[in-house]
Amino acid sequence: MVTGIYFFLLKKKEYELVYAGKERKEDIIAETMAVPLQEIKTFGKSEDSWTNKLIFGDNLQILKEIYNDQRGKNLLDTKDKIRLIYIDPPFATKQDFMKDGEKVYQDKVIGAEFLEFLRERLILAKEILADDGSLYIHLDGKKGHYVKILLDEIFGENNFIREIIWDRMNPSGGKAAAENWIHAHDTVFYYTKNSNDKIFNKEYEPYSEEYIEERFIHKDANGRYRLQGSDNRKQYLSESKGKAVTSVWGIPDINVMATERLDYPTQKPEVILERIVKASSNKGDIVMDFFAGSGTTLSVAEKLDRKWIGCDCGKFAIYTIQKRILNITESKDLDDKENGYGKEYKPFTLYNAGLYDYKKIKELPWEKYRDFALNLFEVRDEKHKVSGIEIDGYRGNDNTIVFNHEKHKSVVLDYGYIDDLHKHVGSKIGDKFFIIAPAGHVDFLEDYVERGKTRYYILRIPYSIINELHNRDFENIKQPADEKDVNNTVESVGFDFIHPPEVECLYKSDKKNFPINITHFMSKIRSKNPQKYANFETLSMVMVDYNYNGEVFDLDKTYFAEGLKNDHYKIVFDKSMIDKKMMIIYMDIFGNEKREVKQVSDFK
Ligand SMILES: C[S@@+](CC[C@H](N)C(=O)[O-])C[C@H]1O[C@@H](n2cnc3c(N)ncnc32)[C@H](O)[C@@H]1O
Repeated sequence: MVTGIYFFLLKKKEYELVYAGKERKEDIIAETMAVPLQEIKTFGKSEDSWTNKLIFGDNLQILKEIYNDQRGKNLLDTKDKIRLIYIDPPFATKQDFMKDGEKVYQDKVIGAEFLEFLRERLILAKEILADDGSLYIHLDGKKGHYVKILLDEIFGENNFIREIIWDRMNPSGGKAAAENWIHAHDTVFYYTKNSNDKIFNKEYEPYSEEYIEERFIHKDANGRYRLQGSDNRKQYLSESKGKAVTSVWGIPDINVMATERLDYPTQKPEVILERIVKASSNKGDIVMDFFAGSGTTLSVAEKLDRKWIGCDCGKFAIYTIQKRILNITESKDLDDKENGYGKEYKPFTLYNAGLYDYKKIKELPWEKYRDFALNLFEVRDEKHKVSGIEIDGYRGNDNTIVFNHEKHKSVVLDYGYIDDLHKHVGSKIGDKFFIIAPAGHVDFLEDYVERGKTRYYILRIPYSIINELHNRDFENIKQPADEKDVNNTVESVGFDFIHPPEVECLYKSDKKNFPINITHFMSKIRSKNPQKYANFETLSMVMVDYNYNGEVFDLDKTYFAEGLKNDHYKIVFDKSMIDKKMMIIYMDIFGNEKREVKQVSDFK
């Protein structure tokens, strides 16, 4: 049967890229799990109905959440409004660190996985884009051509508009030392959802002096120089908009001294994004980057009065972006590059996707909690009654209720509760019935209880049944322990619950130096089969804000676990660095954080 469909597809499309593990588009859309976005904090005072959005989590599930929201209540207000998506995905470079023999084989496996990783996201990206929207994807020569074929399949070849070559102009280090042609460019593919209905604001750049000297040579009667075009059009230099920007962009890469440099590996220059955002969106449009990294797209979108949505699954990225936006006032102005931008940042909300602070969830008012619970298990919100019992909605075709732990404070969900329910509704429902309840309110261990011909499934919040429901193992998002790994592809199956790691440190000073000696680092894992980890094994990084203002963590320095290991888990500060209060975040590879505020007097 599968072969039948496959040939049908081939016949229909005539050609396509074939690789192991390529799923059907329909299955990808249907089977990707959505994860509710949990609001963590809003920076700045939001006066508008819109607030920019920074979302921590795996972008696949975030895209599905937005997809569902656009087809449902549109609470996120993105429907028909995402006019531009720019992404710069990781290039699957892990294999670069392998031995040759291993590498060739791994290249292929990782290659196919990488393509499907990207294809899943591109399929959903197209779905959430406004009908007149555009997508730009930043790639290089290694995988770019494969991705081009996938993009042709997803968007349609007629919606491929341009291949842009970014000439980095100053390749340095390893790149400049290559034994053959020096590799100096990246590729950006530009697609639209609908080539006949797209926004494009044409851009011009000043003519070079050589060009002016060569071409503006004709004098008119008044002695003014003009350009004589081949079609006999005459143009005065002062009236000319300049040279229309071509598809080859010579833009210097960010160098060590650049003021915009943020020490985030793979950071792209703002000028590239300035061109893209100006050309393919208008003021007030939503610009999205779901591989946001250091937040170049978001910063540029904000400076150009666009709204933005950014996602990243790395906490290092999230903290870098948070800092970049909060300090946007001092950053470079796009039009007047000699001066600072000068304007205050616009309010933005930080969300966690699929990473829940359980304590906060229990404190939610009932309606919000109900929304959260329905969303978490992908239940359609459709209140109805069966034999006088109020049901909250449907999961697929099956009735689902959210157990009201607020109303039934002293009641637990036990066999008696199920018996009662069955007595009322048993004869009127199908073979499945779902009950969503906080794990702590359920009195038995089974995932479902059978009564008559019906199975009553208990969907426990937080975690226990997710494996069965989604029929796959549930994995956390892993945080890197080394700077080299910051650009890895990350896939997770989106659920975890915040649980700070155990950290013990010695803060001892010899009056000159102020070292922190980490002696113990253990993660607390909440899962069905928790693995045992050795001391420090789950440490990802330590992040420090030297002058913590009591409100916002403003990242100053990151110490990755690999480096810390070499330094015997010791971080040394001198007095001038910590003359104020500092905040230290110890983070594990699952993204859980332990935060501490310290000052000189704490070092004994
Ligand atoms: C090449 S960087 C983007 C750099 C960015 N253009 C800039 O200028 O800073 C790619 C980013 O994708 C993130 N990433 C990788 N897999 C992801 C996933 N599944 N969901 C969200 N972000 C992911 C990485 O954490 C990394 O920050």
